[in-house]
Amino acid sequence: MGASVQRLDSGLRVEQTVAAVVEILHTDGVVIVEGLVPSSVVDTVNDEVEPYLASADPRMRHLNPALDGFHGPCTKHVSGLAGKSRTFATEIMVHPVLSGTCDAILGPSCARWQLNLAHLLARGPGAGDQYLHRDELVWNLVPEPHPELQLASIVALVDFAADIGATRIAPGSHRWERTRAPGADEITVAEMPAGSAVIYLGSTIHGGGANTSADVWRRGVHLSYTLGWLRTEENNYLAVPPEIAAKLPRECQDVLGYAVHDAIHLAGGYLGMVDLRDPVEMLASGELA
Ligand SMILES: [Fe+2]
Repeated sequence: MGASVQRLDSGLRVEQTVAAVVEILHTDGVVIVEGLVPSSVVDTVNDEVEPYLASADPRMRHLNPALDGFHGPCTKHVSGLAGKSRTFATEIMVHPVLSGTCDAILGPSCARWQLNLAHLLARGPGAGDQYLHRDELVWNLVPEPHPELQLASIVALVDFAADIGATRIAPGSHRWERTRAPGADEITVAEMPAGSAVIYLGSTIHGGGANTSADVWRRGVHLSYTLGWLRTEENNYLAVPPEIAAKLPRECQDVLGYAVHDAIHLAGGYLGMVDLRDPVEMLASGELA
């Protein structure tokens, strides 16, 4: 039998879902939660991102040719999503299932976890297979062995089917030797209805699939979190600047990295201060925005 991803549905209580997600992540490195986000939230987020998608150019130039090659010329990007869709920030970025899973997976290795990036990708017809990779390789200078650095997810904003490029993923690959590549029968496709999420560890091998459909765009959000003491992939203070962050709930500000990383109780120190103070308090007082 080929590889497959275990699935949960959102009918369980949050604590039960988190416990099941964490257990499956430890064994398989990946799990799908169907119906994580209600369709009303999916619809609103889709409405809020529409103007950004309408003006996004699939042939935009990225940081360098390597990044251009990774994403290809058929994908529209809306990065810094938490600053562009309030509903995404308040209903998905701080979803209790994702937050509870971060507490369990990342919490033991930091004083506070944080958003790594929130990046909407609309992969259009003609988009090819992404090369298979581990997301945590952005931090490849962290010596091995290391604790889990990242919790990642793809949240589907449309139904994800294989022919529109649903994520390909190798369950169990988080435990493999780093030089081992998956065979064809070790890769499965994370098909799922809109509002679902495939949740995986930064050490799990995966890649976007090719979109071979005639006219369907695979719209999903790459939403990931990392330890509060690591540099984030997206510069979230610039992507969601203080004037926007100040209007979000405190919980969102914390996750965006505005809260200091306070490791005093772990015999450590503070990271992320401004004027030797906590920026999240300065957002509340109006001193930053
Ligand atoms: Fe990835």
